[in-house]
Amino acid sequence: MHCYSVFRDETKLDINYTPPKLLHRQEQINLLDQYLRYTTTAPGRMTQRILITGNIGTGKTALTQHFGKTITRKAQDRNINLEYVHVNCRQCRGSLFLILQQAIQRFIPTFPKRGYSAEELLQTLMQILDERDAYLILTLDELEALIRKEGSDPLYNLTRIQEDRPRAPKRLTLICVLRQPEQLEGLDPSTRSTLQRNIIHLAEYTEPQLRDILRDRVSLAFMEGAVPEQSLDHISRLAARGGDARYAIELLWRAGKYADSTGLKQVTSECIRKAAVSVYPTIRKDIIRSFGSHQKLFLLGVARHFQRTTSTYASMGEAVDAYAVVCEEYGEDPRGHTQLWKYVKDLSALGIIETRLSDAGRRGKTTLIGLPRIPSSDLGEVLEASLRED
Ligand SMILES: Nc1ncnc2c1ncn2[C@@H]1O[C@H](COP(=O)(O)OP(=O)(O)O)[C@@H](O)[C@H]1O
Ligand SMILES: [Mg+2]
Repeated sequence: MHCYSVFRDETKLDINYTPPKLLHRQEQINLLDQYLRYTTTAPGRMTQRILITGNIGTGKTALTQHFGKTITRKAQDRNINLEYVHVNCRQCRGSLFLILQQAIQRFIPTFPKRGYSAEELLQTLMQILDERDAYLILTLDELEALIRKEGSDPLYNLTRIQEDRPRAPKRLTLICVLRQPEQLEGLDPSTRSTLQRNIIHLAEYTEPQLRDILRDRVSLAFMEGAVPEQSLDHISRLAARGGDARYAIELLWRAGKYADSTGLKQVTSECIRKAAVSVYPTIRKDIIRSFGSHQKLFLLGVARHFQRTTSTYASMGEAVDAYAVVCEEYGEDPRGHTQLWKYVKDLSALGIIETRLSDAGRRGKTTLIGLPRIPSSDLGEVLEASLRED
């Protein structure tokens, strides 16, 4: 039997695929070019730290990788030995050691896996750069994972390393990528202020921008005519709420899968509707993964609570009790109330939980927590899996 597929090349929809064209980000590309111009015009004479912020799916990873490709090409043309290394801090489990090891292995692939401290690795990295007269742009993607795990020290050391060698050429440029600038609050003031000097913020994509991004991706990944214009409209409308290109592309891919599995030659609105129910935007794994462990434990408490009860809302007290039980199970000391209130606020801003005030009872109004969109069992599973990964 001949199997027809709406896809021409599915890999173009893969989460790790970097598209050749970055749409609607010219202004940010130019800004990054300006800030880091010196790397190809006056290498060694100065250094910068750039901070790139923006929500999930606003193109932070795509933008920096795109920049890395163009700047190394430019450097090659000018005979400058410039390397671009892109490390994902979460995949390195928030460990500066693993991050530096990855950077060093770009220069020495056989570099040993043990026997050094992070400080020694940093010295080694600088030494390698000196020996080879090389320059390095190091992108720390999902920086929140590094800050959460190791606090201020890594960034402090990375920014200080140049100042410790005032007469040597400046070889290390940092690009830090994170979702919200507030995530820098825990850092020491001087590190924070050097990072905040050059911020490039990526706003959420608008519906027409998402449509352009999707249209471009469709031309790479789908057969001619397989995704009609109205389907593009449909997906961009759904994804416009979070302005999230990753969600839009994931929907597109899944909708294509539904078309294939039902033998359709076109991705119809029904395929998109099916795709939309299978991708809860609110329990996407990458969002959950970006939480700190206690935020996950708290949410797991909430999910467990709703697995046991038929009521629509839990009181804050019930949520706190459920969280305490989960903490015991995971051998963690529960966080205090102020922190828990902050989780509630953040989770409700993300639309994962919903909060409202109770009618005034004997003890006055209390906050009620609801889980309006996500089955508690699904949420529980995702959280448990993510906690296991940690
Ligand atoms: N401006 C853009 N043009 C084309 N594709 C984009 C653009 N921005 C994001 N994408 C695509 O959307 C997806 C999510 O982008 P990504 O860079 O991973 O977002 P972030 O790192 O901010 O979460 C990726 O597949 C990426 O290739
Ligand atoms: Mg990213």
